[in-house]
Amino acid sequence: MSLTASDPAVVAAERSAMPSPGSAPLMRVSGLRVAVDGGRREVVHGVGFEVHRGETVGIVGESGSGKTLACRSLLGILPHGADRTAGELLFDGVDLGTLSERQWRGVRGARISAVFQDPASYLNPSIRVGRQLDEVHRVRVGLSRRAARAASVAALARLGLVDPERVYLQYPFELSGGMLQRVLLAIALAAEPELLIADEATTALDVTVQAEVLDLLAELRATTGLTVILVSHDLAVVSQVCDRVYVMREGNVVEHGPTRRVLRAPQDEYTRSLLEAHDRYGIERLHADAPQEEAS
Ligand SMILES: Nc1ncnc2c1ncn2[C@@H]1O[C@H](COP(=O)(O)OP(=O)(O)OP(=O)(O)O)[C@@H](O)[C@H]1O
Ligand SMILES: [Mg+2]
Repeated sequence: MSLTASDPAVVAAERSAMPSPGSAPLMRVSGLRVAVDGGRREVVHGVGFEVHRGETVGIVGESGSGKTLACRSLLGILPHGADRTAGELLFDGVDLGTLSERQWRGVRGARISAVFQDPASYLNPSIRVGRQLDEVHRVRVGLSRRAARAASVAALARLGLVDPERVYLQYPFELSGGMLQRVLLAIALAAEPELLIADEATTALDVTVQAEVLDLLAELRATTGLTVILVSHDLAVVSQVCDRVYVMREGNVVEHGPTRRVLRAPQDEYTRSLLEAHDRYGIERLHADAPQEEAS
C-alpha cells in the first residue's frame, strides 16, 4: 500500500465524497466537551465534526476514546454522571444545547434517532415487538391504532424481516440478534428521522447478518437520503459504508477526511497504528474496493 493523498484515485475519491459547495451541514458540532464522575474527569476534550445531508460519516477509535459519549451528547442522553460541559451542537441551524426537555422530545427519536450495540436492552421484554413499534407510529407519527399496525408491519417488511406479520406478534426473546437489530432499526426509522446514529450497531452480529444490516443502511440512504453517523471499531465496515471518517483518540479528533484518503494515506501516527493493528488481524476487505487492486 503506497498510495499518497495526491494519487488520482485518492483525489477522485475525495472529490466524490465532498459535500456540495455552499450547503450548510445538517449537524455541526464544535468544541464539544464531556466530563464524567460528576465533572471531575474530562473525557471528551473539545471535539468538532460536521455531517452533511445524505452523508454517511464514520467515527473510529479505540475503546474509551469518547465515541459513544460524543454521540450520546447529540441525542441529549448522556449516562448518569456524565455531562456536556461545553460545545455547540448545531442541528439544522438550531443549537441543541439550548433546547428544553420538552423541545428535545420533538427532536430525539423523531429528527435524530439512534441504534446501539445491544438491541435487546432497548426493547421491553414483556411486550410484543409489534406493539413497541406501534407506539412510535402512534406517538411520534400520530397514526391511529389501526394505521399504526399497518405501518409497523410494512416497516418490518421494509427492513427485510421475512414474515413481518409473525414477527409483529413475537416477543423480543423469540428473535435472533439480527432480527432484533432490524426491529430496532425499524423503530429508529419509524418517524423518518433526518439523522441516524448507529453506535456499534452491527458489532454483536455475525458477519453475514452484519453485511445484511449494512446493505440495508446503504439502501435506505439511497432511497430516502438518510444521513448516518456510524460509530465502529471495525475499519473494514467503515471503509465499506462511510464517505468521510473522523478518528478519535483519548477524547480528541486526531484526523479526519474522506474515508479512502484517511484509510489509505493516513496522516496521523495513531491512525496508522489503528490500520496496522487491523492488518495484523488479517482484514483484507479493507482495501478490497480499490480499483487498481482488482485482479486482472
Ligand atoms: N457513565 C460513565 N461514567 C463514568 N465514566 C464513563 C461513563 N461512560 C463512559 N465513561 C468513560 O468515558 C470515556 C469515554 O467512553 P466512551 O464510552 O465514550 O468510549 P467509546 O469510544 O465509545 O469506547 P468503546 O469503543 O469501548 O465503546 C472512557 O474513559 C469511559 O470509561
Ligand atoms: Mg462506545
